[in-house]
Amino acid sequence: MKKILITGGCGFIGSNLILFLRKHRPNWQIVNLDKLTYAANPQNLKILRDDQNYRFVKGDISDANIVERVFAKERPEAVIAMAAESHVDRSILHPDTFLKTNIFGTYVLLEAARKYQVKRFIQIGTDEEYGSIEKGSFQETSPLSPASPYSASKAAASLLALSFYKTYGLPIIVTRSSNNFGPFQFPEKFIPRLITNAILGQNLPVYGRGKNVRDWIFVEDNCRGILLALEKGKAGEIYNIGGGNEKTNLEIAQKIAAMFPRSKIEFVADRPGHDFRYSLNCQKIQKLGYQKGDSFENNLLKTIRWYQENVAWWKELKEKSEALYQNWGKAAK
Ligand code: NAD
Ligand code: DAU
Repeated sequence: MKKILITGGCGFIGSNLILFLRKHRPNWQIVNLDKLTYAANPQNLKILRDDQNYRFVKGDISDANIVERVFAKERPEAVIAMAAESHVDRSILHPDTFLKTNIFGTYVLLEAARKYQVKRFIQIGTDEEYGSIEKGSFQETSPLSPASPYSASKAAASLLALSFYKTYGLPIIVTRSSNNFGPFQFPEKFIPRLITNAILGQNLPVYGRGKNVRDWIFVEDNCRGILLALEKGKAGEIYNIGGGNEKTNLEIAQKIAAMFPRSKIEFVADRPGHDFRYSLNCQKIQKLGYQKGDSFENNLLKTIRWYQENVAWWKELKEKSEALYQNWGKAAK
């Protein structure tokens, strides 16, 4: 049996990952350390309330005292470092917490993992660390060229993690995935923002002319990739995890608009420093046995259905987050 510490387990990917592990590795003990920022929802994991093999600790990864206490008490064999400030637009408006959590918080976790000699430390990175690519796809060896405070902070975190492998021999693995979508995603992100707008009969905001390309991966597929990296990956290595579903933002908006005729596509102010295209070469994770799951279209339908059936989960969150982006046009300049 494994004991594993997951940070940020009350967020979008973290909640999905914990539920995924509960199903596929039912004997593992899971400790979830989460600060419960605006992006968290502990209700996602309410089904685990009486689970003897699950423990939740509220705390900030950049607080060395809390992190020390968790490691000393729980002695995790592995860490999946998922906690982060994750939204690019927020990093443009307020970069400070991104630097503190994503860089300093990662450093605090790495120091504790080194002290307590964890056997695996999975640093959850992102394809945005590579920056934008017009043609072809990024490999794990490609240089990093982040464009936003968010992606710069994530690149710093993954480089710091790899430096702990090279300098101290800490068994680090970095995964870099493409854009996730699925249940529990905060409604400020593109796909859930458009779906929830559409459910409310509102227009669908598309930045610029909607030509930017993202590679969409269903969150469960990313969870499978992370588990594969944890169990079969090699220390010191990076693994790209892409969805193989490159689409322009306009294509996505059109798919959603086609299902909700009351909602029209509305072109709005572009994101400053907006990366044009992300694309990952995923041969390395495929060599570990990674295979794609269901089609993008089926997964989009599942996601739409989930937001239709869980209006109470997102309604209030959406009202608050939309207020933040009300002056997006001006703020983005
Ligand atoms: P999210 O914003 O939905 O959730 C982040 C979670 O981290 C929240 O539960 C929040 O409370 C917690 N958190 C934030 N700051 C913390 C702190 N200082 N201490 C403890 N907990 C803290 O994020 P997500 O979309 O689930 O992303 C999870 C990870 O995956 C992040 O590292 C992100 O960079 C990475 N990632 C996300 C995507 C994507 O498409 N969403 C793609 C690639 C990589
Ligand atoms: O690529 C992985 C990254 O994907 C993760 O590391 C980040 O945590 C995650 O937030 C996501 O970043 P993006 O910036 O790609 O995702 P977002 O959902 O914010 O935007 C996706 C695309 O849609 C992007 O080109 C901007 C555009 N967009 C976004 C919003 C919120 C719009 O056109 N309209 C919108 O309202």
